[in-house]
Amino acid sequence: MSNEKGIAASNGPTPSYGVTEAGGSYNRHAATQLAGATLALPLLEKAAQDLLLNAGDQPVVIADYGCSQGKNSLAPIRAAIAVLRKRISRHRPICVVHVDVAENDFTTLFEVLDTAPDSYFLDDPDVFPSAVGRSFYHSVLPPDHVHLGWSSYAAVWLSRIPAMIPDHIWPASSTGEVHAAFERQAAQDWETFLALRARELRSGGKLVVVLPGIGDDVSSAAKSRLGDMMDHANSVLSEMVAYGLITTEERVRMVLPSYPRRRSELLAPFGQGRRFGCLLVEHCAVFPFTDAAWTEYERDGDDAGLAARHAGFFRAAFLPTLASALAPDRGAEGRQSFIDRLAEGLRRRLVGHPAPLQLLAQVIVLAKQAAT
Ligand SMILES: C[S@@+](CC[C@H](N)C(=O)[O-])C[C@H]1O[C@@H](n2cnc3c(N)ncnc32)[C@H](O)[C@@H]1O
Repeated sequence: MSNEKGIAASNGPTPSYGVTEAGGSYNRHAATQLAGATLALPLLEKAAQDLLLNAGDQPVVIADYGCSQGKNSLAPIRAAIAVLRKRISRHRPICVVHVDVAENDFTTLFEVLDTAPDSYFLDDPDVFPSAVGRSFYHSVLPPDHVHLGWSSYAAVWLSRIPAMIPDHIWPASSTGEVHAAFERQAAQDWETFLALRARELRSGGKLVVVLPGIGDDVSSAAKSRLGDMMDHANSVLSEMVAYGLITTEERVRMVLPSYPRRRSELLAPFGQGRRFGCLLVEHCAVFPFTDAAWTEYERDGDDAGLAARHAGFFRAAFLPTLASALAPDRGAEGRQSFIDRLAEGLRRRLVGHPAPLQLLAQVIVLAKQAAT
């Protein structure tokens, strides 16, 4: 049987691509993603300012595609609401729909919304948060429903694994036919994501998508600090197989379908006219930035602290996906101990090799053409 998660349906447990570590772990280790998303806030505010608002008192709808546990959604959604509130009456309802896969830690999301001092709705009784637990590679909201879409560091995750990667876990470290299969899958998924969001947006609505980027040289990702971390994780996995901690079959299933796109890949569906169906590219920017952990290291010189923070970032973002390839009978405890061991092995390998995560945040702003 095949489903949108591809090969794994017949080969083993159903994986959860991109699902972040639960128990609020992602929220504690996602400063890097927040730094990238923060660079997009002026563009999100401009989109909120420019989007077409119908008169009347119908709710204004904001969708957050790939919300994880919510901490990193607070600032962008707050910024968007602040702009919208200046355009609409104080009591016009604003509905915020957080979308993520069903396995996501929605409990933490709602706790954060209820308790974080910077939560976007605590001081506005006419803002109504809710959530959808379904892949954004399906329709998740009705047609012509969303005024403003936001998606940060989520559409980098593919809908399926198109090929196994011999001796590695990361598509950017693959070559030849295997890399080409990921390229094709990424192109297809990006078009699917755009077509579905175009349907959900209202005419005159806007969609702002933030994604990790790579340079034009395909091999640049593999040569980066993140590429080093992927290599180290891969080596730790080999050791775990050698020590009998995981089986060869489990190791073979471990692939991270996380595919940072080049700018040209992001823009490919839109062609010369910068148009894909009814979606028009209004802006496409690339922002280089260095992770906050490195800035802290430059201040305090704490190599072990840097290694721990980089391992924490890697763990929360990537290890649950690898753990989902373990045999089902290992249970939650087995998955947890796998994650602990792998993260610790990675941390040890990073100590003594301090380096910054030099990153690119790509931001694309799309407008759904208003009907004439
Ligand atoms: C790295 S987190 C980003 C969270 C947050 N938006 C941020 O900027 O920090 C990626 C999120 O995308 C979600 N995700 C990945 N694939 C998805 C899919 N097909 N449908 C919905 N959410 C998905 C993951 O479950 C995860 O919560």
